[in-house]
Amino acid sequence: MSLLEVDDVVMQFGGVTAVNHASFEAEAGHVTGLIGPNGAGKTTCFNIISGLQRPTKGKVHFDGKNVTSVPVHRRSKRGMGRTFQRLEAFGSLSVRENVRVALDIHRGVKGMLKPARADIDHLLERVGIASYADDRADSIPTGTARLLELARCLAGDPQLLLLDEPSSGLDETETDAFGELLRDLAAEGRAILMVEHDMDLVMGVCDTIRVLDFGEVIAVGDPAAIRADKRVQQAYLGYADDGDDDQDDQDDQPVGSHAAGHDDQTLVIPAVSATEGVS
Ligand SMILES: Nc1ncnc2c1ncn2[C@@H]1O[C@H](COP(=O)(O)OP(=O)(O)O)[C@@H](O)[C@H]1O
Ligand SMILES: [Mg+2]
Repeated sequence: MSLLEVDDVVMQFGGVTAVNHASFEAEAGHVTGLIGPNGAGKTTCFNIISGLQRPTKGKVHFDGKNVTSVPVHRRSKRGMGRTFQRLEAFGSLSVRENVRVALDIHRGVKGMLKPARADIDHLLERVGIASYADDRADSIPTGTARLLELARCLAGDPQLLLLDEPSSGLDETETDAFGELLRDLAAEGRAILMVEHDMDLVMGVCDTIRVLDFGEVIAVGDPAAIRADKRVQQAYLGYADDGDDDQDDQDDQPVGSHAAGHDDQTLVIPAVSATEGVS
């Protein structure tokens, strides 16, 4: 059994079905990508997994137990950690103080008596933001604030990390370092479930990718399989690339998906090159 199992989850908001009979897992030691166009239901899945929202139907199992009705703080105690798409740090506190608060919350009253400085510094080093330790959290760049979110999440030593668009605001070098950190965290035996729009990062770092569209899981596979998947291309681009080399590609027509509402700058899946997959 995988560390996290989402079983046939449905989430309705009035007439909107945000998640539609979705089932998927996240395994210890693996980085799993959860991708899909805007509005596909990714954040709602995270809310259900972490306990912020109760699903209309379906179950969430974590570490072999049904946690569907378990409140957020208990799930956190049992080893779930989450970062948010919207940044959640305390703006008037320093970067170091923000991590300290997270560590204190995790350790509880008794733990607060222990010296935490070395642990905090270790976390800041680990995510690569030690040089910002004394800066106010509302004065740091967005990318750094995302890494601070991750440090705060790691303060709870989670077995499962739920990361919602963690790389937005990171430059290329920071994104590369972040990808390596994710691989290291997985190598420690943690399960990582990541919602992310940076396809280079997703394709470079994930073991498995699940694709959501209109709340449904439309594809599961490794990066190469996902890139080549026609339904995924349709969901993102509004058409499936037929793989031919014609200039105008008039036969690659939109198929009436909701592609018009997508942000093409961030959502284009890198094409499979002609040589890829040929051994
Ligand atoms: N609290 C809510 N009330 C009503 N509709 C919601 C709510 N949360 C999300 N939705 C709708 O559910 C769908 C999925 O949203 P979301 O999970 O945020 O998608 P994603 O994170 O993939 O962009 C969207 O149509 C969104 O408008
Ligand atoms: Mg979202």
